[in-house]
Amino acid sequence: MIFRLPALAALSLSAIAFASPTKYGGNKCGNHLALEHINAKESKFANDLSRVEIPGSTFSNRTISVYFNVISSGTDLSHGCIPDNQVKDQMDVLNRDYSGTGLRFQLVNVTRVVNAKWFNDAGPDTPEQTEMKAALRRGGPDVLNIFTVSFNNITADGLLGYATFPADYSGNSKDDGVVVNFATLPGGTAAPTNLGRTITHEVGHWVGLYHTFQGGCDGEGDYVDDTPAEAEAASGCPVGRDTCAAPGLDPVQNYMDYSDDACMNNFTKGQIVRLRYQIDTYRNITL
Ligand SMILES: *[C@@H]1O[C@H](CO)[C@@H](O)[C@H](O)[C@H]1NC(C)=O
Ligand SMILES: *[C@@H]1O[C@H](CO)[C@@H](O)[C@H](O)[C@H]1NC(C)=O
Ligand SMILES: *[C@@H]1O[C@H](CO)[C@@H](O)[C@H](O)[C@H]1NC(C)=O
Ligand SMILES: *[C@@H]1O[C@H](CO)[C@@H](O)[C@H](O)[C@H]1NC(C)=O
Ligand SMILES: [Zn+2]
Repeated sequence: MIFRLPALAALSLSAIAFASPTKYGGNKCGNHLALEHINAKESKFANDLSRVEIPGSTFSNRTISVYFNVISSGTDLSHGCIPDNQVKDQMDVLNRDYSGTGLRFQLVNVTRVVNAKWFNDAGPDTPEQTEMKAALRRGGPDVLNIFTVSFNNITADGLLGYATFPADYSGNSKDDGVVVNFATLPGGTAAPTNLGRTITHEVGHWVGLYHTFQGGCDGEGDYVDDTPAEAEAASGCPVGRDTCAAPGLDPVQNYMDYSDDACMNNFTKGQIVRLRYQIDTYRNITL
């Protein structure tokens, strides 16, 4: 088990850093959920699946507006000021990875802010990230805000990014969005996680997906039927790994695992059904 749910039961559904490192070292993603919140949301989902259109050749597309907020401690790349072409490359990766889902992402604005405090100290639940989002976040529940920072002063081991979930929006709209380490963008210095898949993964949470290793081998896992249960997060690219007795190999190539960027290549049909339901219900995005 990676997650220590009982100790976190009092915490909210929104993204928080978790203290226990995975077996492989590193809390790649700062998203963590309290079981009671999951259960409450998921019983609703389970009872309401008929609303969801099953993906097929005819499903419609919807374009999501993206506001890109580049926070830096200076005006060059080494201080986090990523250039437009890297932002564009990231958008291309995001659109390629979501091409089977019906979602398109369109960049509407890149805002650059030099603020060393936000750059170094913004992280899950820090006052700096709250201040940053309050100052910069734009749009409603259907608009994606991405923030790039460094996490320099965030002690969570190996944190690459974190995100809010669709169901959180109504309770805390100012917190909504995705925050990542700028070095994860395509061409960044965070190899082997520098092909832009951190944002693909965090946007997966933003549209309502859990980690494929959520819950380990037991229980409901990630609440998606066609992602086989997995005992723990993957690292590297351990294709063929099988950590649970339940049928199926571990979905290590899934975007919602922790594998290296080059290893990841898919969302399952069940995840697509789930995300379409989640954004229809909580983000006012109907496909
Ligand atoms: C949605 O987008 C996909 C991929 O670009 C395309 O193949 C499909 O025809 C589009 N669907 C509709 C209904 O326009
Ligand atoms: C992006 O948004 C910022 C902040 O509102 C604004 O100053 C800037 O002009 C916008 N850039 C473009 C290209 O629209
Ligand atoms: C935050 O990071 C900056 C840059 O690395 C450093 O100068 C500063 O001392 C750090 N602050 C804390 C509280 O760690
Ligand atoms: C997605 O991953 C599963 C295993 O997790 C694999 O069986 C399937 O072929 C993959 N799909 C694509 C399109 O790569
Ligand atoms: Zn994650």
